[in-house]
Order: sequence, then C-alpha cells, then structure tokens
Amino acid sequence: MPQAIPATLIPGDGIGPEIVDSTLAALDALDAPFQWERKIAGLEAAKAVGDPLPADTIASIRRTRLALKGPLETPSGGGYRSSNVRLREEFKLYANLRPALTIIPGGRFDNIDLVVVRENLEGLYIGHEHYIQIDDDPHAVAMATGVNTRQGSRRLLEFAFEHAIATGRKKVTIVHKANIMKALTGIFLETGMELYEKKYKGRFALDSVIIDACAMKLVLNPWQFDVLVTTNLFGDILSDLVAGLVGGLGMTPGANIGADAAIFEAVHGSAPDIAGRGIANPTALLLAAAMMLEHCGLKDKAVRLRKAIGDTLNADKVRTGDLGGRATTAEFTRALVKRIAGGSANQT
Ligand code: NAI
Repeated sequence: MPQAIPATLIPGDGIGPEIVDSTLAALDALDAPFQWERKIAGLEAAKAVGDPLPADTIASIRRTRLALKGPLETPSGGGYRSSNVRLREEFKLYANLRPALTIIPGGRFDNIDLVVVRENLEGLYIGHEHYIQIDDDPHAVAMATGVNTRQGSRRLLEFAFEHAIATGRKKVTIVHKANIMKALTGIFLETGMELYEKKYKGRFALDSVIIDACAMKLVLNPWQFDVLVTTNLFGDILSDLVAGLVGGLGMTPGANIGADAAIFEAVHGSAPDIAGRGIANPTALLLAAAMMLEHCGLKDKAVRLRKAIGDTLNADKVRTGDLGGRATTAEFTRALVKRIAGGSANQT
C-alpha cells in the first residue's frame, strides 16, 4: 500500500455530493491512497455556520495543500462573494489549467485536444466594484476595476510555457484584447512576448489572437489551437466554450495550481436545475481526480482512470443524459468501477 496522502474533500453544493460520491467510488476502486478530511464550503457552509468559507476548511487545506472540490454555489448580483474566488486568493492559486479532450468520438467536433491556461487571481475578478447613486437610483452607475500586474502575468505565462514544454505541446496562443483594453490586457500580451523572446524562443511556437476573433476561430477550426493562455475573465469564458467542443460541461476538469496548494474541480457549477435527481454526469470531476493523481505522482492510476472512463462511455456505451444517454449517475459509476476492476459493464 503506497503512503497515505492527506487531502481535503469538499463535496460542495447542488450536484456536488452526487458527483463526489461517484469519484470517491472510482478512487477507492483504484486504491488511491488519499486520506480525506471532509470539509464544507459554499451555500452548505453559509447555511450551516454562516460563512461560505469557514476557517476550519481553510485550515484543512493549509495542512494538506491538496483538495478535491465539488462546485460551490454563488448568488448572482448581491449576496456573498464567491468561495471559489476566495479559495484561489487564500492559497494564491494563480494558474487554472483546463484541458478539453475529445473522449467520445463522432461528435460535432472530433479529435479535440486543447488546454486553456487561465490567470486565476487578477483582472476583473479582484472584486473592486461599486455602484454610484444618481438621484433616487442607487444603481445608476456600475463600476469595476481590473488589475493585471507584470509579476502576476509573468508567473502565469511561465506556468503555461513550462506546461506546454512538459506535455510536448507545439504551440501557445496568447489571447487578449489589447486593441481596446490597451493597458489591462496589453501588459499580459507584452509580458508574454518578452518572456518568450528571452527564455522560450524555439521551444514551441508562440502567437497571439484577440479574444473575439479567438471565439470565432475556435468554432470554425478549433484544431488550429494547442495551448491558449489568457487573463482571468477571458479564460473563464473560453474554457466553457472549449468544454462545448468536447461534449459539454460534464466533460471538462480544472486544476487550480498555486504556490501554497492545488485544488482540483470540475469546470462546471452546481447545476441546481438537475441537483438531487441522480442524473448528473460525474466525468468532469473524475477527470479532475485523474489530474490530482498525476499531480501526486500517481500517473499509472491516472492513466487507468482515464482509460476506464473512455471504456465506460465508448465500449460499454453507458452515458448520462447530457451525453444523450439514459444512465443515472449511480449506473455510470457502477459500470466505471467494473471497468477499473478489469471487467466491462456488459459482463454479468
Ligand atoms: P452550471 O455549470 O452549474 O450549469 C450549466 C448547465 O450545465 C446546466 O443546465 C446544468 O444542468 C448543466 N450541467 C453542469 N454540470 C453538469 C453535469 N456534471 N452533468 C450534467 N449536466 C451538467 O452553471 P450555472 O447554472 O450557471 O451555475 C450554477 C451555480 O454554480 C452558480 O451558483 C455558480 O456561481 C456556480 N458555479 C460554481 C463553479 C465552481 O464551483 N467551480 C463554477 C461555475 C459555476
């Protein structure tokens, strides 16, 4: 038995507990040596202890420096600040790695293998927002300040460039809007170009594209891209777009990597429209668990998990509703566990 790895587990809101259960079943079948500290955050924590990110949860991640997290609900408009954003800030999780890989062939877009690297701490997500009242309208004017720093841009770009080299990628594209937000996103483009010239030239190809053109090109010909590296808000939007290229939000994992910890999660949210019905697709969180295994040096288990997911979806054709199938989360999980154990869902 390999050495136990302490890790924090946050089941999260909405479909979170359902997909976390499925992921734990798969990790158990793989004999993954995680020693879980189960903690709460998001709406569940706001209701239970009046804080969507309790000190106890933060303390656990500070100890383990590793977490697997279900989605956390954030109210739109007013209400509390996103616990996801607070977690990223607390642990300086500056890099958000979001791969999109075709697992089920024959879809609208086939053979997609892209990765979005999103800056996770700066830009328009810093929460410097306010309204100005005019006459009797308290929301007459809305203002937000974006902040991108040379240092923050550099460490994220360095992460993306190193990731490209380590994973044998051929091209990195910097996505920006420096024609309009000349300072805010210009600094990111300028820093990337300089860094490439000084340190990375020739090790992969580098180009740049404006965010709006990038969105169009991703839909017309996504195969022209390899690694997309961009600022916070653009990265958020683009990672959902690329999720759509590989079958939807149920299929894309994310890793939040930083100086002090690493937190693995699905790209999608708490899906309140289907929560509690037992029909959520756990694949995105399962793929996040595969990234977590790899992060902990357990590559063989990550490979087994990814293969079992592919076999369950393709050979066994056990698929949840979002993928056009009829399987419940529990049925998918049973078939997956069987695959991990070396069998197939069709064997009795
Ligand atoms: P969402 O990602 O939860 O759902 C969008 C659509 O995709 C819904 O129709 C949903 O049913 C479907 N969907 C998502 N994941 C699925 C899965 N695994 N299987 C099958 N269908 C799936 O986005 P929405 O509705 O905008 O956000 C809901 C809540 O989640 C909000 O409070 C938001 O702030 C939060 N959120 C949390 C994130 C996180 O914790 N990392 C990320 C994104 C949103």
